[in-house]
Amino acid sequence: MGVSGKPTAGGSPVRAHPANLLIDGGFEGGQRMGERLAVVSGGGTGIGAATAQVLAVDGFDVLVVGRREDALRATTARLSWDLARPGAVRAVVADLTDPQQVPRVVEAVDGRAVDAVVNNAGGYLGGEPDTLAGVAEQWRASLEANLLTAVLLTEALRPTLRRPGGRVILVSSAAAQQGGGGPHSAAKAALHGWAYDLAVRLGPDQVTVNVVSPGYVVDTEFFGGRRTPEGHARRVAATLVGRAGTPDDIAAAVRYLAGPAAGYVTGQVLGVDGGSVLGR
Ligand SMILES: NC(=O)c1ccc[n+]([C@@H]2O[C@H](COP(=O)([O-])OP(=O)(O)OC[C@H]3O[C@@H](n4cnc5c(N)ncnc54)[C@H](OP(=O)(O)O)[C@@H]3O)[C@@H](O)[C@H]2O)c1
Repeated sequence: MGVSGKPTAGGSPVRAHPANLLIDGGFEGGQRMGERLAVVSGGGTGIGAATAQVLAVDGFDVLVVGRREDALRATTARLSWDLARPGAVRAVVADLTDPQQVPRVVEAVDGRAVDAVVNNAGGYLGGEPDTLAGVAEQWRASLEANLLTAVLLTEALRPTLRRPGGRVILVSSAAAQQGGGGPHSAAKAALHGWAYDLAVRLGPDQVTVNVVSPGYVVDTEFFGGRRTPEGHARRVAATLVGRAGTPDDIAAAVRYLAGPAAGYVTGQVLGVDGGSVLGR
């Protein structure tokens, strides 16, 4: 039964919500709440799911956000099973490119202070359009997926950020610094410029803003069917450590930046790329 007392098809609880999109109820739901709250976009898969896991292990309550309910449900169920704190990870279905849907996240936060916003949603959208209309469509889609998702989520949650002590983290890409991804590189690079301005604006409230810039990471949905053995070998060879990154590698960097030890780090880009991009 959910908070609404309404059973669902799968037997798992669903809270009474205007759009019925907060999966498995609010944080109150009979569970002891963690002292800190993190919101992780794209938390249903890959880097976002790994990040949700380490933050939950660190005692955060975590709200994961994505468009696909099934992916979110699978991750919250898995983490509830793995963690000693079932219910610590909850999900909201929302397309973060849509300003009409983003407020669902604010609603799910339910008046709590947000300690960390991890803007991880995004991806490489691909395609080789041969018309200007196609180029415009591809670029708009990439900018929306990688930049606008972060801007809208962060702006929506900005009033709720814990002051002092809040954290905003943006997941970019090594492609922002070295190219190679067309509109994806450009959209991620735009995150950096925005992060610097946001760090200036939020610094006086002792809220930090940082960028994590992953290199080549496997075991996510990022590459879809596009990865070839040759591409894999080339990307591994471009690292100094001779291996691909994992979602846990990136989550570890986010964990540091979200934690109390990183309070004096702001306006920075942290490359987590096996040394494929040097010192930028
Ligand atoms: N893997 C790599 O090698 C690599 C390298 C550099 C940077 N990155 C970046 O790392 C981040 C995480 O990627 P990943 O590798 O973990 O791939 P992934 O598994 O595809 O994760 C991307 C996540 O973003 C969510 N998402 C995409 N558009 C969204 C939207 N409009 N609203 C809400 N959620 C949205 C997706 O969920 P839904 O589809 O359900 O919405 C998905 O959970 C991305 O920003 C990516 O660009 C990855």
